[in-house]
Amino acid sequence: MSDDKAAELRALTAGRPHTTHVLETVIAVWPEHAGYLVKSFAARSPAMLDATEAAAGAARKLIAGQEAKFAADYRWTCDQLRDEELFFHREGRYRLSTFAEANAEVYSNHDYMGRYVNGLLLTQLLWYNHVATFEMFLNQVLPNAARPFDYLEVGPGHGLMVYFAAQSPLCRTLEAWDVSTVSLRETRAALDTLGLTKPVSLVETDILQTKRPDRRFDLVVISEVLEHLERPHVALDFLRGCIADDGRIFINVPLNSPSPDHIYLFSTPDDVRVLVEGAGFKVDQMSLFATQGKRIESALANRISVSAGVIARPS
Ligand SMILES: C[S@@+](CC[C@H](N)C(=O)[O-])C[C@H]1O[C@@H](n2cnc3c(N)ncnc32)[C@H](O)[C@@H]1O
Repeated sequence: MSDDKAAELRALTAGRPHTTHVLETVIAVWPEHAGYLVKSFAARSPAMLDATEAAAGAARKLIAGQEAKFAADYRWTCDQLRDEELFFHREGRYRLSTFAEANAEVYSNHDYMGRYVNGLLLTQLLWYNHVATFEMFLNQVLPNAARPFDYLEVGPGHGLMVYFAAQSPLCRTLEAWDVSTVSLRETRAALDTLGLTKPVSLVETDILQTKRPDRRFDLVVISEVLEHLERPHVALDFLRGCIADDGRIFINVPLNSPSPDHIYLFSTPDDVRVLVEGAGFKVDQMSLFATQGKRIESALANRISVSAGVIARPS
């Protein structure tokens, strides 16, 4: 990395020690990535830099003692995504379209999954659009709870959102569902490492086939999951029935975002709105965040990845 880029990154993250530490770890392994990171960090608002620092503080605990491995896995993950991007821009579609294909190539491949999941953890603070939706969750979803809430998340990954939801004094109970035993094991280990003391019920279930629970939730989160499903409308229809009448759902779904296990292509913000409204929700807010903070119009026109953060309530 050039000294100029290093100095720029240090200046951009000054006063945010966890962020600086993780950036230095990544750049030690992948110096050529510094230019990308400078752009990603220069585009962030102070609120986003604070959200980055919160995610970095949690990530530091999760990668402690294995920093170089996580950084190498992040680099490897970016390489996999670049290959998918080439295919997407050549063919105009995601390479895989069924769960069976994604399961064969990714989910059941333990070596692949291990590296991929490590890489995705670091994207939570290194990628502009991932931090932007996380900031939306921290600053626009959690603080707007009007009363004590019961929290449900589908596909919690490393459990960062579960962990931050639990910090809200209004959070009464926490539950998370995932189809994968391995993923849930990862969630439990991460929550233990983060030192979460509130109980979290982790349930292995397929959102497309699960039985209706005997309780309703006040806040439901489904982040980076719908694009992994063959029938995302079935998942949202189902979740509509799990939400209290005055509850809310936070949906984070990427558009034009090729990835080894993304099988359902959302191309436009309207694709998402139609799905959410069709499941019986009223959209209160939809915010769009493009990779590297690029202009939304040009990202959509060029089919560059955009994250859609949606806050909705039963209509
Ligand atoms: C990319 S991770 C999302 C991690 C985290 N929520 C985030 O925003 O980064 C997708 C998760 O969805 C889970 N998943 C995929 N299909 C599912 C299904 N049919 N039912 C429940 N969970 C599913 C996967 O096992 C995985 O843990």
